[in-house]
Amino acid sequence: MPTKEKFYLTTPIYYTNGLPHIGHTYTTVVADVVRRFKRMRGYEVVMTTGTDEHGVNVERAAKKAGIPESEFVARMATEWRSLWYELGLNADEFVRTTDLKHVRTVQWLFKLCRENGYVYKDHYTGQYCIYDNAFVTDAKPGDNCPDCGRPTETVTEENYFFKLSAFQKPLLDFYRKNPTFIQPETRKNEIVSFVEGGLKDLSITRTTIRWGIPVPGEEPHVFYVWFDALTAYLSAVGGPEYERRGMWPADLHLVGKDIIRFHTVYWPAFLMAAMLPVPKQVWAHGWFLMDASKMSKSKGNVVLPRPIANMLGMDALRYFLLREVVFGQDGNFSYDALVTRYNSDLANGLGNLASRTAAMIEKNFAGRIPKPAARARQDDALAKETQSAIGEVLERYENMEFARALETIWGLIGAADKYLTSEQPWALSDSEVDTQRKAAILSTTAELLRIVTVLAHPVLPESTAKVWSLLGQPGSVSDVELDGLRWGQLAAEVQLGKAQALFPRVDKTEAIERIEAMANEEQSPQAAPAVAHAAAAATGSTGAAAAPAVSERIGIEDFAKVEMRVGQIKTAERIVGADKLLKLTVDIGTEIRQICAGIAQYYEPQALIGRKVAVVTNLAPRKLRGVESNGMIIAASVGPEGRPVLAGFHEDVEVGARLK
Ligand code: MSP
Repeated sequence: MPTKEKFYLTTPIYYTNGLPHIGHTYTTVVADVVRRFKRMRGYEVVMTTGTDEHGVNVERAAKKAGIPESEFVARMATEWRSLWYELGLNADEFVRTTDLKHVRTVQWLFKLCRENGYVYKDHYTGQYCIYDNAFVTDAKPGDNCPDCGRPTETVTEENYFFKLSAFQKPLLDFYRKNPTFIQPETRKNEIVSFVEGGLKDLSITRTTIRWGIPVPGEEPHVFYVWFDALTAYLSAVGGPEYERRGMWPADLHLVGKDIIRFHTVYWPAFLMAAMLPVPKQVWAHGWFLMDASKMSKSKGNVVLPRPIANMLGMDALRYFLLREVVFGQDGNFSYDALVTRYNSDLANGLGNLASRTAAMIEKNFAGRIPKPAARARQDDALAKETQSAIGEVLERYENMEFARALETIWGLIGAADKYLTSEQPWALSDSEVDTQRKAAILSTTAELLRIVTVLAHPVLPESTAKVWSLLGQPGSVSDVELDGLRWGQLAAEVQLGKAQALFPRVDKTEAIERIEAMANEEQSPQAAPAVAHAAAAATGSTGAAAAPAVSERIGIEDFAKVEMRVGQIKTAERIVGADKLLKLTVDIGTEIRQICAGIAQYYEPQALIGRKVAVVTNLAPRKLRGVESNGMIIAASVGPEGRPVLAGFHEDVEVGARLK
């Protein structure tokens, strides 16, 4: 038996100073889709993901959490790994950069680069923040630290440098000989002109960071995070013994556009210097934006995957991420669009076609897929359309045109709906002729549905498995070989499986509210692991910084971080569908803010107008029941049910005055 062709693909390894949001989920979903697609095309596939665990941010976050770095990253890696597992996105290899096998691979790669003459020791001069113990990249003398705002100092340290400058020509030659190495084309042009502009040598070790992989015999040198992180792709599949596993070089690195330079310039240069094989392709996708800006915890616009998966199912999220944006471009994320697509494409589209086809077969043929004696012209036309869509869909998947692949598949669903509407099997009698006709219509529809199920499987693994067993087809849908897929392979005269709920229709407003409520809960300091909050706080994303325990004392500098001002309520109204919330507009002296407050059961909106309240003004904005809330009104929580009583002032106070 011929051995299978291999396909090795990777996601970036994610930083451990936060938890996965929809942006990270996007890359991982795409990797999983490609993995499933390639397996169905007969490849032996390995997919790698992991966690990037070194560097000064982790040092800080661990300090904040009051635990050693090793414990901090172990907890975070568990969080990431278990979330991927929960979402059905667990990779074949999960690399942690603190794994011994990875540490050895990084040290080995460095040794090879050094032996080949591409590493030298020199001095690095840069702006350094003595409070944060970190170099501030791109800062000039006189600049302040972007993290803590304090002045940076010019510091010189001894580093090992990588001769990146020696790779300008080899890289340009490589791009020319491998025109599909950088995808999409626009990104390739960007990188080529960057490299044409000249490459400076790169410092690849640090002596000012403690939490890193040591350079053997050269302590206190540790490796620069990117030299460390990129090597994870190689350590996942054997490291120094990569030839034994047979997976290297990677066939595909999937990355966001933010990190393409590291993957298409530094990474191939490191490998060339070590005389190791270079990956075949780097595909950079765009960002999922929220309100036109990149998601970040500090902006309070992070979308979490778990609440969506809980409400609509993971398949719905996968479908949305791939259908909504052209792969490679930026796209907007909105719950509204997500639920709209869920109802129209999944509930009314695939779900409805599957359930009505099964119901008609049940009713007319006692649940056995009929075998028709003859076919009409319109049946053959639908067969032809479906057959020609197969090749088109495969090509689109292969070219990473996921939105277009799904569009073609859903075109078939639309064609089947139209066909049923015009053939009207439900209007036919039980005469022999009519029964024959019904058999032809329903077997045609079932065959189309089978093909749609196979084609959609990489994107919708769970629900297509359900449709497959509903159709009573043998084996599992993931074992179908895509290249052998043809019209006419439907196993007929088999009994339908049990009907299972596929995509129950949801009420949009209610679904969004429930997703947001779950997301708020997950992001609340009590719910998420303390280490994650410490991580966010330590890296400057203080949106959901851990609340100190009641008994814990804080210093004045911690208190000073909270900005509170006197505000005056200008308008107040109830929010439809959210019986606890009021939407307020509040004048805080410098601007009018929209703030949601959970006081609707205790305060009449009209009675609040003009009232002066205490407002926390520097909280990251967040959405409550779909409404943006930019600040927080202070209230006492009274009695066992926590009745809110607004804090106020007995003397007249100026709007905007700071509370100290
Ligand atoms: N640790 C580095 C990568 C090292 S790879 C050798 C890193 N980690 S990260 O946690 O910041 O994750 C970056 C990746 O997450 C991006 O490249 C992208 O794949 C994904 N995304 C993060 N936010 C995103 C969006 N808002 N939209 C889409 N993807 C984004 O960088």
